[in-house]
Amino acid sequence: MSASDSIPLRRYRDPLAGLPVALGVSGSIAAYKALSLASALTQAGALVDTLLTPAATRLVQPLAFQALTHRKVTHALWDSASEMAMDHVAVAHRICAFVIAPATADLLARLALGLADDAVTTTALATVAPLLVAPAMEPQMWAHPATQAHVAVLEARGATFIGPRPGRMASGLEGLGRMAEPVEVIDALRLRLGRSGPLAGRHVVVGSGPTREPIDPVRFLSNASSGHMGLALCRALLHAGARVSLVTGPVALPPPMGAEVVAVETAQQMCGAILDLAPAADALLMAAAVADYRPLTVSGHKIKKSEGDSILPLTRTPDILASLDRHLAGRPGPRPYRVGFAAETGDLEAYARDKLQRKGLDLVVANRVPESFGMGRHQAILVGAHDAEPIAAESKDAMAQAIVERVIVALNDRQSPPAP
Ligand code: CTP
Repeated sequence: MSASDSIPLRRYRDPLAGLPVALGVSGSIAAYKALSLASALTQAGALVDTLLTPAATRLVQPLAFQALTHRKVTHALWDSASEMAMDHVAVAHRICAFVIAPATADLLARLALGLADDAVTTTALATVAPLLVAPAMEPQMWAHPATQAHVAVLEARGATFIGPRPGRMASGLEGLGRMAEPVEVIDALRLRLGRSGPLAGRHVVVGSGPTREPIDPVRFLSNASSGHMGLALCRALLHAGARVSLVTGPVALPPPMGAEVVAVETAQQMCGAILDLAPAADALLMAAAVADYRPLTVSGHKIKKSEGDSILPLTRTPDILASLDRHLAGRPGPRPYRVGFAAETGDLEAYARDKLQRKGLDLVVANRVPESFGMGRHQAILVGAHDAEPIAAESKDAMAQAIVERVIVALNDRQSPPAP
């Protein structure tokens, strides 16, 4: 057994784990997507009570939801076997969130009016839990002023709308009216529930992805960073309630819902964006793989090949964290809590401590490579000014949560943010 095996493995804890949520389903053909949603919510650890309108039961079977969620399903207010017959507000009182997906135009109208004539609308009226709505209907119905007025009423009462999205309807028409995909609904739910988390009122900047240093109009120097770590950090921060600015180089992965994205290409551009945002932020998490060198000159035309070797003169790019440290020096007021990342094959703690001092950081996440590349067990040491905490995590998400926990503790030790 190696020493690192004795470090407890951090597992990703989904913010939905153990949370009671209700899933309301109304009579749109998109109700089939509610089955995937019920399954995904249950897999995320949520305790899902499904409520169906009478129209929904004509399209999807209550038994299917029961089989997926392992919980009773309510579809009739007046069914003596239903929990609602004994206590018609039981579900409303125990849930942390109410997700209605799909929501038809008819259901939006009844919600806006405060009607309570089925299990879904009765629960919506009786709960104080946040309401999230994923509409699905024909584009003309969505665009109708009556529907838009109901949406405005519900939004003014605090409901969060997810979609509808553009695309092909069941009718064959193209337009705005498709229900958002289940993964998007779940992201919105995690974000909504995080709003009152420990980082509520805090602003955190995340640097992520690679940079691209142009050689000519069609070539550049870059690296293989996928941006996975930066995005995992964004998600963990958003789920803890932070406002997140994501400064990212070019990546294939979509940014997490709720992050404010600043897209950059070069190290110089990333430096400008970070110096712009970070000084006023509460924290900066710099997970970007910034190119250390760029071509000394950028050719205005595509460079033609010639016989023999070619030499490309390079020059250093700005060190962004060190530039920020210099920028902050002498400025009054609190400084953002700054986290840097380092990939090392050995002497993790010693190299990390050197970076901590050179770049004026509060924490360095020193990853052991190549072990921490790709999937599987991730190992790192979180090196602060006075301590070094070894971490083993089952995934990048679990590692990101562990890092964000450190940020939460550090910011809690500082002054509370002003009330929003
Ligand atoms: N970084 C930066 N500006 C750069 C290069 C890196 O702000 N021009 C940041 C990275 O985002 C990361 C940390 O500095 O948070 C990594 O420091 P770096 O000195 O580049 O470490 P290594 O990549 O491990 O490189 P080396 O071993 O050569 O020091």
